[in-house]
Amino acid sequence: MSEAVHSHQDPPEVSPPVQYDRMLVALHWLLAMGLIAQLGLGLWMDDLPKEPVGYRAQWFNLHKSIGICLGLLILWRLGWRITHSVPASVNLPGTWQDKLSTLTHRAMYLCMLLMPLSGFLGSNFSPYPVKFFGVALPRWFAPDPDLKSLLSEVHELTATLFMALVALHFAAVLWHVLVKRDGLLQRMTWGRAHHD
Ligand code: HEM
Ligand code: HEM
Repeated sequence: MSEAVHSHQDPPEVSPPVQYDRMLVALHWLLAMGLIAQLGLGLWMDDLPKEPVGYRAQWFNLHKSIGICLGLLILWRLGWRITHSVPASVNLPGTWQDKLSTLTHRAMYLCMLLMPLSGFLGSNFSPYPVKFFGVALPRWFAPDPDLKSLLSEVHELTATLFMALVALHFAAVLWHVLVKRDGLLQRMTWGRAHHD
């Protein structure tokens, strides 16, 4: 086909996907459930008594084991996200909604990296070994109370920021679904074909 018969309304040669691919959809919902449960567990276990001996530790160990699994899923998701194309934003390019959603998504990804990393590194600076579902992992560093408390601060701060971002994300999705009714939620499901 010659250039002359193309109008600016012609679809591009390779149409961009109209929704997120199945792997990203599966990882989105698996991680959404896992992360919300993990946040709840982290906040809840913080106030647990140290008696009887081992009671608090068993919940801490569960939190660490789940956190390591989530960290691996997050690495997988990021790797997949970087190497696959995703649908264009539903917002017009350059609008504040477009900028805010890009910023929120990136900040959520950053928190998703920093939360398990700070938890894992911090726990490696504590006197207790990290047990992965009962199996003690090799110690990375000698215990260091200062670095442990610094990384605990990072862990708590990133988790707090992450909760605020997820609340914003949830509010934005509700806005699209209830007010704009632009089919945003369908983009993050296994429903239709990937291409028009
Ligand atoms: C995505 C994964 C994770 C999330 C969302 C998460 C979330 C949280 C939250 C909300 C708290 C309570 C914060 C506070 O009030 O101090 C917490 C505490 C804690 N988390 Fe995690 N966590 C994750 C991964 C990990 C990992 C992988 C480890 C270790 C291997 C870990 C170890 C700890 C420890 C030891 C605490 C107790 C407070 C401290 O000593 O820092 N977490 N976590
Ligand atoms: C811990 C909870 C959640 C996290 C961390 C999270 C994270 C994300 C991220 C990072 C994206 C951008 C995807 C990308 O570009 O790779 C996204 C998209 C999306 N999320 Fe979530 N999400 C969470 C919960 C939810 C919930 C509860 C809903 C629905 C009520 C939801 C609905 C969506 C939708 C519809 C999209 C696609 C947006 C678009 O089409 O551009 N998410 N989510």
